[in-house]
Amino acid sequence: MPSKAPINVNMMSGDATDPASRIWPFKKMHTVQPYDKGNNTLVYMHLWGVDDAAFWGNYDYSKAIEKGMNKNNLPYSGEFGFIETHSYWPITHMVAPKENALHCADCHAKTGRLSSLNGVYIPGNTSHKWLDVLGLFLVFATLLGVLVHGIIRKLSASPSVPKGD
Ligand code: HEC
Repeated sequence: MPSKAPINVNMMSGDATDPASRIWPFKKMHTVQPYDKGNNTLVYMHLWGVDDAAFWGNYDYSKAIEKGMNKNNLPYSGEFGFIETHSYWPITHMVAPKENALHCADCHAKTGRLSSLNGVYIPGNTSHKWLDVLGLFLVFATLLGVLVHGIIRKLSASPSVPKGD
C-alpha cells in the first residue's frame, strides 16, 4: 500500500522567487486511479480498440491493465487496487468560458487568489509601508509644487503684458 495518498503524479517546478518562473494556469485533476498492488506503481491501461481488453467498451480493469503494461514492457503483478491522485495539467483544453476569465482584482487584492504566494510583489496585494508613504509624499509634493508655481505666476503676472489675439 502506498505510504500516503493522494499521490502527486506530477509537480510543477519553479518558484515565485525565481525570475525565470512564470504564472501559468493549470487544471488540478483530483481522481482515483488503479495501481499495481504488488509493485506499488501506477499502471497503464489499454483504453481504446476493438479487442476485448480495451477498457472503453468492456470495462474490465484487470484485462485493460494487463494489456497496457504489456504493451509498455512494464512489470505487472496481476493484482490492482485504487489510489487517490492529484495531477496538474497545463490548460490547453477545458478552458473556462470568457465570462469566467479572471479580472485584475482576482489577484490584485488583499485577499486575492495569489495572496498566499510569498516572495513576489503584487500591486494591490503586497504593500511596503514606506514605499506607500514615499509614493503618497511624491504625489502631494508634486501637487503642492504645481499649486505654488501657479499661484506665483498668477500673482506676478504683469498687467502690461499684451494679450494674444
Ligand atoms: C493571475 C493573477 C493576476 C491577474 C488576473 C492580473 N495580475 Fe497583474 N500581476 C500579477 C502578479 C503575480 C504580478 C507581479 C509580477 C512580478 O512581479 O513578476 C503582477 C503585476 C502587475 C503590475 C506591475 C507590473 C510591474 O512591472 O511591476 C501591474 C501594473 C499589473 N499587474 C496590472 C494588472 C492589470 C491591469 C490586470 C487586469 C487587466 C492584472 N494585472 C491582472 C498577477 C495578476
